[in-house]
Amino acid sequence: MVSPGGTFALGFFNIKEDSMRSYLGIWYKEVVPMTVVWVANRNHPLNDSSGLLKITDKGLLLLLNNNNSIFWSSNSSSNLTQQPVALLLDTGNLIVNTSNKDSEYTLWQSFDYPFDTLLPGMKLGSDLTSGLTRNLKSQNSPGDPSKGNYTFQLDIVGYPQLCIRNGESISYCSGSWNGLRFGGIPQLKQNTIYHYYFVYRKEEIYYTFELLNSSVYSRFVLSADGIMTRYVWSVENQSWTPYLKLPNDFCDDYARCGPYGKCNEDNSPPCECLNGTVPKVPEEWNHTNWSNGCTRTNPLSCNGDGFKKFTGLKLPDTHRTSWLNNSMSLDKCAKLCMNNCSCMAYAALDIIKEAAGGCLMWYGELINIRVLSDPQQDFYVRMSKKDSDEEEKLEGKSGIPKMQIIVFSSVLVIVIMILCISLILYKRKKNQKNYRNMRGNTEENQEEELDLPYFDMATLISAANNFSTNNILGKGGFGAVYKGVLKDGREIAVKRLSENSRQGLQEFKSEVMHVVKLQHRNLVRLLGCCIQGEERILVYEFMPNKSLDYFIFDEERGKLLDWPKRFVIIIGIARGLLYLHQDSRHRIVHRDLKAGNVLLDDEMNAKISDFGLARSLAGNENEANTATVVGTYGYLSPEYLIDGIFSTKSDVYSFGVLVLEIVTGKRNRGFNNENHRFNLLGHVWTLFIDGKCSEIVDGSIRDDDESNLSGIVRAIHVGLLCVQRSAEDRPSMSYALMMLSSEWTLPQPKMPGFFVERDPVGETSASRNTVVSVNEVTISVLHPR
Ligand SMILES: *[C@@H]1O[C@H](CO)[C@@H](O)[C@H](O)[C@H]1NC(C)=O
Ligand SMILES: *[C@@H]1O[C@H](CO)[C@@H](O)[C@H](O)[C@H]1NC(C)=O
Ligand SMILES: *[C@@H]1O[C@H](CO)[C@@H](O)[C@H](O)[C@H]1NC(C)=O
Ligand SMILES: *[C@@H]1O[C@H](CO)[C@@H](O)[C@H](O)[C@H]1NC(C)=O
Repeated sequence: MVSPGGTFALGFFNIKEDSMRSYLGIWYKEVVPMTVVWVANRNHPLNDSSGLLKITDKGLLLLLNNNNSIFWSSNSSSNLTQQPVALLLDTGNLIVNTSNKDSEYTLWQSFDYPFDTLLPGMKLGSDLTSGLTRNLKSQNSPGDPSKGNYTFQLDIVGYPQLCIRNGESISYCSGSWNGLRFGGIPQLKQNTIYHYYFVYRKEEIYYTFELLNSSVYSRFVLSADGIMTRYVWSVENQSWTPYLKLPNDFCDDYARCGPYGKCNEDNSPPCECLNGTVPKVPEEWNHTNWSNGCTRTNPLSCNGDGFKKFTGLKLPDTHRTSWLNNSMSLDKCAKLCMNNCSCMAYAALDIIKEAAGGCLMWYGELINIRVLSDPQQDFYVRMSKKDSDEEEKLEGKSGIPKMQIIVFSSVLVIVIMILCISLILYKRKKNQKNYRNMRGNTEENQEEELDLPYFDMATLISAANNFSTNNILGKGGFGAVYKGVLKDGREIAVKRLSENSRQGLQEFKSEVMHVVKLQHRNLVRLLGCCIQGEERILVYEFMPNKSLDYFIFDEERGKLLDWPKRFVIIIGIARGLLYLHQDSRHRIVHRDLKAGNVLLDDEMNAKISDFGLARSLAGNENEANTATVVGTYGYLSPEYLIDGIFSTKSDVYSFGVLVLEIVTGKRNRGFNNENHRFNLLGHVWTLFIDGKCSEIVDGSIRDDDESNLSGIVRAIHVGLLCVQRSAEDRPSMSYALMMLSSEWTLPQPKMPGFFVERDPVGETSASRNTVVSVNEVTISVLHPR
C-alpha cells in the first residue's frame, strides 16, 4: 500500500533477510536503504513470511498469521454503523476512518502510537482530555525493533521540556520552553527546512514540526543508545544528513555538575560552582566527581536574603520542584519568591513577552545548569545578603582568598590615590567657580554646573546668523532648529526651545547633564546648552543629510535609499532606541520618535535626535503618566494618546509606525486609499493577513531586487508586531532587533493600535486636554474593547 503522494509505503518487511521475523511497517518509498518510520508489531514479529492485515466491521485493525492468531491489534473500536476504512496518508500516518458524506471521524491513527521516529505533523506530548501520551521509544538494538530502554518525551512535570529517559532515570533534558525554543537547545532555530511549534493549552501540550517544502524529507529519531538526531534527506548524496543532535556534548548530560554546579564545555575540568557557592565535598569535586555539586558559601537566613542574577546559562531544571504563572510580571515574581523562604530562584518564563513574561520559580536544589552561547534568559538565585548582587562589587573573580586580599589592598591604594587627586582638582575648580561667581554668574548647585558644557549666547547668535529664518533646518514639537557654524568651522545644529517646553531651570540643567553623557552611534550628540534669561538652547552635532522624511516620502529622493540602505537605517534606529531604553544609565523614553527626528549622517547612518527632553523613567519604573502628551499624531500609541501613559512600549509603537513608513514610503498620517478608510497601519495589516503585503512596498525598493522581498516582508511583520494595540503584546526593542536580524518564525501580529483615521489634523504637539477633545473627531478605533 502506497500513500497518495507516493512518499510512504505500508507493508511487510524482514530485517536482514531474516524471513523468520517479519513486521508490518511504514517506510519512505523512495529512500534506499529502507528507512522504517513506524512498526505495528515491534514486539511480536510474525514467525513466517505470510501475514494478513485485516480491518473489522468495528474498525479494529488486526494483524494475523496463517493460523489466524493475532500478532497485533490497533486498539480502536466503535459502534458506528458505517463501514470503516484504513488509509495511509502521505504524511506517513495510517488512519482508520469512518467516512460517509456528512461526517468523517478518525477512530485510530498510527501517529498516536509512535515508534522511534517523529515525523512532520506528529504531536509529541499529551492530550490531557483523553489522557493519551505520545512518546518515542527506542529500538532495542539497531537490528531489533522491539522496545528498547530509551524514551523521548515531552516532560510536562514543571514547565514542559524535551527529555530522554533511560528506563526511569533522566539522561537528558532540554530546558523549558522559553517562548522561542527549549532553553537549552540554542541550535534549535527556525530555519529553511522545517518550522517547529510548541502548543501549551488546557486540552493538550505538545511539540511538533512541519516541513516547509514537503518534498524535502526530515525525521527526528531516537537511537538505540539514547541519542535524538534530526536527519534531513540529501537528494544529491542519496543519504540522511544529521542536522541536530541531543544530547550534543558532555555538558548536555543531565545534571552533569550536580546542584549549583555549572558545566562549561570549553573548560577543563568542565564543572565549576556558581558564583556564591563552593564544592559541597571538596575532595570528591577535585577528583572529578561532581555529582554532589556545590553549596552556598554563606547560609541563607530567609528574611535577610537577596538575589544574584545569572546570565549566559541554561536555566535550572524545572522537572523537580518548580512553580509557574504565565501572566505574572518579573517584579511580582521577585517579591513572591523573596517572601517564601523555600523559593530558591526565579526567572521570566517567556523571553518574548518580557514585562508580562510570566514567572517561573524553583523550590529545591538547582541542577542541570550549563554555560550556553546564546541563552537569552536570565535567572535570579536566592543568596545570603553577602553574596547577593547588592554586595557584588568587591567580589573578586577567583575563589582564592589570598588573591582577594591582594586585589583588595591594591584597590584600596588606588581608591585613596583617586580621592587625593579629586580633592585637589575639586579645590581648584571651586576656586574657578568662586571667580565666576564674582563675575556675576549666579547659578546654584555647584557640582552640576562644573561639568555642564555651556555655550555663550553671543557665540550662538553669531554662529546661527542671528537666528535668521534662512538658517532654519526644521521645526519640531520642542522648537525650531537652526544651522550654525562656529568660529573654528565646526558645524552645529542649534535648537531654540519653544516656550511650551520650558521647564524649571534646575530640571532643565539636570536633564541636559545626563543627555550629554549619552553617547551612541545612532544618537545625535548633544554638545551643550545655553541658558540666558528665558532662553533655553541646545547645541547638537550637525547632520548633513537632513532627516529621513526628506527622503522616504519623496518619490525621486526615495530612489537614493535602496532596501539594504533602508534596512541599515531601521537597524540603526532600533539600536539607538534600545540604548535609550536599556543600556544607558537612566531608562529613557523618547516620546517623539518619527521620520523627521531620524537624521542621517554623511554615510546615511540613522541618528535619533530630539531625545533631549525625553522623560527618563526612574530605574525600575516601567511606565509613567503625564499630564502633557507631547508627540506627533500618527506615531502615538493608544495608551499614550488616550490615557497619557508612556513607557518604552509607546516608543516601540512609534518605531513600528516608522518601520512601516520606511518600507512603504507612505506617511501613516493622511494615508488614503480609495477602497477603504483604513490608515496605513490598517491597510498594511489587512494586506498582511491576506498574504499580499508585498503590494504595498515602496516602488523604489520593490523593483531593485526580487531577492530582497523576504527581508522586506519580515520588516513589515516586525513593524506590525510593534504597533499592536496592547502594549503588552508589543515586543521590547531588544526583541524587535533580534527578530529583524534573525530567521525565526514570528508570531502572528494582532490588530494594530489605530486602524482608521478620518479628518486628518496637521502634525502638532498638543497638551493632553486638546488631544482628548480632538481625539473624538480624529481617531476612532475599529474594535474598541
Ligand atoms: C488499548 O486501550 C485500552 C483501553 O482504552 C488501554 O488500557 C490499553 O493500554 C490500550 N492498548 C494499547 C496498546 O494502546
Ligand atoms: C522543494 O524541493 C524540491 C526538491 O529539492 C525543489 O525541486 C522544489 O523547487 C522545492 N519547492 C519549493 C517551493 O521550494
Ligand atoms: C498569576 O498572576 C496573575 C498576575 O499577578 C494573578 O492575577 C493570578 O491570580 C496568578 N495565578 C495564579 C494561579 O497564581
Ligand atoms: C512556599 O512555597 C511552597 C511550595 O509552593 C508552598 O508549599 C508553601 O506554602 C509556600 N509558603 C508560603 C509561606 O507561602
